[in-house]
Amino acid sequence: MFVMLSIRSPQSKQPSDNQFLFDHCRCSACFHGKTRQRLRTLANVPSNVSVASAQISNGKLHVVWQTTPVHESSFPLAFLRQASYDPPLATRGELLDQSPLHTWGSEIAQNPPTVTYESVIPAKTGGEAEKGVLSWLDKVHEYGFCFVTGVPTTTEATEELIRRMGHIRETHYGGFWDFTADMSKGDLAYSNQGLPAHTDTAYFTDPAGLQIFHCLHHPIPPGTGGETLLVDAFFVAEQLSENYPEAFATLSRLAVPFHASGNEGTLLRPPISQPVFRHDHLGRLYQARWNNEDRCVLGEGWTPDEVRQWYTAARLFEQVATSKEAEYWVKLTPGTVVVIDNWRVMHGRAAFTGQRRMCGAYVGADDWKSRRRSLTNQFKAGPEDSWSMGW
Ligand SMILES: [Fe+2]
Ligand SMILES: [Zn+2]
Repeated sequence: MFVMLSIRSPQSKQPSDNQFLFDHCRCSACFHGKTRQRLRTLANVPSNVSVASAQISNGKLHVVWQTTPVHESSFPLAFLRQASYDPPLATRGELLDQSPLHTWGSEIAQNPPTVTYESVIPAKTGGEAEKGVLSWLDKVHEYGFCFVTGVPTTTEATEELIRRMGHIRETHYGGFWDFTADMSKGDLAYSNQGLPAHTDTAYFTDPAGLQIFHCLHHPIPPGTGGETLLVDAFFVAEQLSENYPEAFATLSRLAVPFHASGNEGTLLRPPISQPVFRHDHLGRLYQARWNNEDRCVLGEGWTPDEVRQWYTAARLFEQVATSKEAEYWVKLTPGTVVVIDNWRVMHGRAAFTGQRRMCGAYVGADDWKSRRRSLTNQFKAGPEDSWSMGW
């Protein structure tokens, strides 16, 4: 039984794995049940702590520790299986979000992910609104973006809507934005020229998680243009990994520096650059950064060959990302808000003329994912698991 592998005999002189078990005791002296925080410092976790007795009953391992005073712990076997590291019995992948991602190209135009304003606002739909937010965030997770229709065309309603998903993230652009093409900020977003597909704030160590836009006003005629472009960078990644695996590997490996320097008093440049495609320790793609406008001087720590390889790979990225199969163009009208997972879906726009007023905000990636996770727990069947590996 795996438990026996984790508990060495009390006679063992080696530092043992007992310390791991002792450290994970969740009795009320070791762990605060409400705040779910550890209460014991490592000075109080002896490296050679030994077991006086151990037995299994009712799906739990009960341990009496040879400590003064005597300490007792109970560990659910399901937890031990998940947490076991010698040997590992569960993959961390089993413990992570398993809900599938749906990558898309231009065909998403036929049926774009959409929820209604009413379904997520408590004043409209009462207690069901929390469930509405969960299905909204599930769509953002699955597709990397989601429209909200029927939104009142005011900044107040838009800001309230955004706060249903998480805290608004304040940056050098402010918190909640309300802007026109007046170049009030030193960024092309504040102009009326067209912008190729990009992710925002690639120059942050932690790029903005969600980007939310609401076009409050852009009458056509007399105005023209201003269509929004969305491109799924995970779709681009799939295409590259299938058709140009070397390019995909290059873009997943070489770290690209980005900067934001157009605003007085701001000079953003992350201390650690990251590649266009970032993968987790299980090799799964979890973040794309692509912003050709904000790209800094390439090549730090690269070989001359790597500089050349990067250009070849990046041109292929651009070629796929600007293909008819990848681009989804949509004209946003007042009343429709778009929520974009900025770690995945790129946005851009066509040049425009006329009076165009936009509002919106950023929400941090950790924050909206936390909101989604906690709503998932709230509505999942069965009792809450106080022995979760990560809540
Ligand atoms: Fe942008
Ligand atoms: Zn304890």
